[in-house]
Amino acid sequence: MAKKTLSKVEHGLSGTITVPGDKSISHRAIMLGALANGKTTVRGFLPGEDCLSTISCFRQLGVDIHQEGSYVEIHGNGAEHLREPKAVLDVGNSGTTIRLLSGILAGLGFYACIQGDSSIAKRPMKRIVDPLRLMGANIDGRQGGNFTPLTITGGNLHSIDYELPVASAQVKSAILLASLFAEGTTTVMEPERTRDHTERMLNAFGVNVNQTGKKVSMKGKQTLTATTIEVPGDISSAAFFLVAGTISAQSRLTIQHVGMNPTRTGIIDVLIHMGATLSCKNKSEDSIEPYADIQVDASSLHGVEIGGDIIPILIDEIPIIVLAATQAEGTTIIKDAAELKVKETNRIDIVAQELNKMGAHIIPTEDGMIVHGKTKLKGATVNSHGDHRIGMMLAIASTIAEGKTVIESSEAINVSYPDFFETLQGLQ
Ligand code: S3P
Repeated sequence: MAKKTLSKVEHGLSGTITVPGDKSISHRAIMLGALANGKTTVRGFLPGEDCLSTISCFRQLGVDIHQEGSYVEIHGNGAEHLREPKAVLDVGNSGTTIRLLSGILAGLGFYACIQGDSSIAKRPMKRIVDPLRLMGANIDGRQGGNFTPLTITGGNLHSIDYELPVASAQVKSAILLASLFAEGTTTVMEPERTRDHTERMLNAFGVNVNQTGKKVSMKGKQTLTATTIEVPGDISSAAFFLVAGTISAQSRLTIQHVGMNPTRTGIIDVLIHMGATLSCKNKSEDSIEPYADIQVDASSLHGVEIGGDIIPILIDEIPIIVLAATQAEGTTIIKDAAELKVKETNRIDIVAQELNKMGAHIIPTEDGMIVHGKTKLKGATVNSHGDHRIGMMLAIASTIAEGKTVIESSEAINVSYPDFFETLQGLQ
């Protein structure tokens, strides 16, 4: 287990950076490229551990994939050429890999077994198992299909109309990917809108997807044609630097080429609402995913209430928003976010526990947190608990904490941002 010792940054953070490619989009580019006919080229791919797990699973399914850093070529021969894997498919720490891949395997006529690390073993799978069973897949796992390892023998799927019980892009995507193999039209209703990268990318591969409000539907048996994908920077990774630039006195940061998909930009709305001086420049819509440069200055923040339908649009950014809230005058209330309990860790308990060690005043609740600000943070020994986003949030906390902060299990950061510490260092 790696340990990282960090010190307070005395004169703010300044500079211009780019962040690695979007994790959600990178996974989907590999998956759809593997299902398509022809050579798909991906630029800006995130070479973090999660997306490398996706590549390794598809190689085991017989797909020829060349990856060098952020450049990837996928030589797809269509889904019918995927073959039964000879060993268990290992998704590592990646929830997106296991849930989306299960949707694909549900449509294929062979046996596969999937599992991941100890965090994946605790995460609920019934949310994908239920709809995939309704479509006709033979899928099972521990405890009636709720936990890994999952075993799937796919094939002979039929379309469904499905109302998602939780707002989850992973579940929506698993169903949409399975529906590629089903006769008839599949419809998914979301309780709140979630990220729409799968829908956009299916379109880019030539598949017709209809989206109206919270309803997505598509006809099965459509074929995918290889294409070129440009992956913008991950707003979930940029989020750490957006908050760092806001809370660290005298800072001014610019982050270039950040994905600005409106189903992901809740963090920007919340930071502006809290009083941050933040602006988006050079917006572009010329690609399947919009992007822009974001500039942020050190700012005085105030507490806000965050809940309702914005939650899925900033779900992964809540740990770093909570850090911002510790530096805001007044109380911040986060509610309607019980999904945080089933992420890489229980992010309600772990965020509160680790930041409170540094002097924050955070009360965990059933569906969120109450953060009393503004608190002076001090260095402490804290732990990522194997959760990349907790590790990076704690590293940003260290930049404003008096004294030294030791982050245990800091290697977790490699899941989504292998160069994170170098980038942070370069801004000091
Ligand atoms: C993701 C969807 C979200 C998010 C995860 C990535 C995706 O999960 O938290 O990091 O790529 O579809 P849920 O669908 O479980 O909300």
